[in-house]
Amino acid sequence: MFSIATGPATIRLARLDDAAAISRIHQSHVPRWYRKTGGEHCEVGYEALTLDERYGFGGQWMSTETCAIHLNNLLLSHHMPYVAETDGKPVAEMELFVSREGPPYGRACHIGLLYVDKAFTGHGIGAMMVEKALQYARENRCDSLTVSATRATEEFYRRCGFAFRDALVEIEALPGDFIVDVAPLPPPLSLQSFTWGMNMHIGRLQSSAYHVFEAASEYALASCMNVQRHIQYLTVNGHPSVFVCQCPVPGNAVVRGWSAGADAGDLVFAALGKAAAMGVRTTNMLLCRKDYEHVEGLIESRLIGTRRTLMIKL
Ligand SMILES: CC(C)(COP(=O)(O)OP(=O)(O)OC[C@H]1O[C@@H](n2cnc3c(N)ncnc32)[C@H](O)[C@@H]1OP(=O)(O)O)[C@@H](O)C(=O)NCCC(=O)NCCS
Repeated sequence: MFSIATGPATIRLARLDDAAAISRIHQSHVPRWYRKTGGEHCEVGYEALTLDERYGFGGQWMSTETCAIHLNNLLLSHHMPYVAETDGKPVAEMELFVSREGPPYGRACHIGLLYVDKAFTGHGIGAMMVEKALQYARENRCDSLTVSATRATEEFYRRCGFAFRDALVEIEALPGDFIVDVAPLPPPLSLQSFTWGMNMHIGRLQSSAYHVFEAASEYALASCMNVQRHIQYLTVNGHPSVFVCQCPVPGNAVVRGWSAGADAGDLVFAALGKAAAMGVRTTNMLLCRKDYEHVEGLIESRLIGTRRTLMIKL
């Protein structure tokens, strides 16, 4: 057993060799493994599930194979996966993404994900990982360290020094026609370079994380290969902007949107107009609550969830 008095764990950059151990850390948070048959949840062991079925419990971290592809993508894109080890065994994983965001975040180091093996929680390992993220952010001249917290993790991050920054809402909105000036733009070399420094008004503050997930979502699994993705470069009221619409099920689009100057409300109107033109029936978007309040009375929508962005200003 490790000693808390001498420090609970050592932290190092993850390697491809860690894929199995990292996958086990994430699996420890899944309470039960089951298969859906005819609307029934039939309890089966982890080993009985296919890679595709496991993916449905929590994405690419759920199997060694897909976790290795994900780690490979992170490491090749210079994103930072860290593990904390006790007795030479990884017991926590954290993924850091640096990007340039609109104000007030600036050059932001974002904790895309932090999981401590369930059996090792409550021993200060999570706090050590956040300390590592702070150190990395400072060494890399970031203006802020950010995280998107859920109800279950917010108190932990507050205790680690984070302060509330933005309330986010997840909405379902119906496409439609709105008065906003939209014109096509020729595609740039890459989405990542195009959006550098832009405000990510729709899908808040996940820019760098989004880029890597986009690359990483190309697994040869039925649940990934059926997801269609449309990218539209355009100007909104004269400002260079881009939408990414991901359609996990036909007729529904998860929308992300960046702009170099258009306000969030106009970007939402333009996104709903584009979705209507694509024949989409419903859209899902993540917005700042205050941006949503500006458009709420003008669009047909309903609230489906909330999240909060927390920040440490550096
Ligand atoms: C949240 C999590 C990272 C915390 O890790 P941990 O190693 O157990 O946390 P620590 O032991 O370092 O705790 C640090 C402090 O936060 C507190 N804390 C930890 N988890 C907490 C929680 N869920 N709620 C409230 N406080 C919490 C601890 O009591 C401790 O407080 P103290 O400094 O006053 O003693 C870990 O429980 C985890 O991996 N959870 C699942 C993560 C998840 O669901 N992520 C989804 C979004 S990516």
